[in-house]
Amino acid sequence: MSRAVRRDGKRLGFVPTMGALHEGHLSLLSAARASCDIVTASIFVNPTQFGPNEDLEKYPRSFERDCELLEKEGVDVLFAPSVEEMYPAGAVTWVTVEELSGKLDGRSRPGHFRGVTTIVSKLFHVVEPDVAFFGQKDAAQVAIIRRMVRDLNLPVEIAACPIVREVDGLAMSSRNAYLDPQQRKQALVLHRSLMRVEKRVDEGERKAAKLVAAAREEFGREPAVRLDYFEIVDAQSLDPLEDVSKGAVAAVAAYVGPTRLIDNLVLREG
Ligand code: PAF
Repeated sequence: MSRAVRRDGKRLGFVPTMGALHEGHLSLLSAARASCDIVTASIFVNPTQFGPNEDLEKYPRSFERDCELLEKEGVDVLFAPSVEEMYPAGAVTWVTVEELSGKLDGRSRPGHFRGVTTIVSKLFHVVEPDVAFFGQKDAAQVAIIRRMVRDLNLPVEIAACPIVREVDGLAMSSRNAYLDPQQRKQALVLHRSLMRVEKRVDEGERKAAKLVAAAREEFGREPAVRLDYFEIVDAQSLDPLEDVSKGAVAAVAAYVGPTRLIDNLVLREG
């Protein structure tokens, strides 16, 4: 289909998802709709990006509701393959972005990004999009996919769309569904820590170590939440920065009960 679309001079947009759709996904779909003639979405809970002790089995699944939402959003094609279709028995081929895949979430979740880059490259081969849309909430994922596309000369443009938040600041995530009301409140510390860092940057602080210390202090006030990492990194290389410069990203991951949540903020110098 993608070839026929291109033959007609049309632009094909692609939104890969693992389902359990929320406003964040819908914003990707509307960005795709706004700049493409045909929009394809995929729903595939990719087993290879989950570690052995992670939440693959209980990952929220709401296929019927997702289909209704996709239809309402005017998605033209849905690709929802089975695990056997994407990973035939004996599949041993992986796509790995070396180095970057071991940073941020990759450090805490070994093998996670290898699973992501493998499935995303397979989806790109099947769908053959002109442009693919990802949420900026997964800042490391965006950087790694961009690098994969560059290194492998894949003919697809990567569009990163802004984080969508609940009114109180919590970044939208399918995993928010795991939180009980108390954890839901505790989870706000991720956003608060980023806001505190942004304020310090606005006040003129440039030293990453000082900014990270301020964020950690914020976490100190919410002891029920276990900080995994808070780092200020270069948006492309994901390397920690000493001084905040244009394009720096403050990235955080933390466990609220057993639920691991992430969030980030692109820091702009005042
Ligand atoms: O961001 C996600 O939902 C997943 O990592 C993706 C890109 C759909 C790959 O499984």
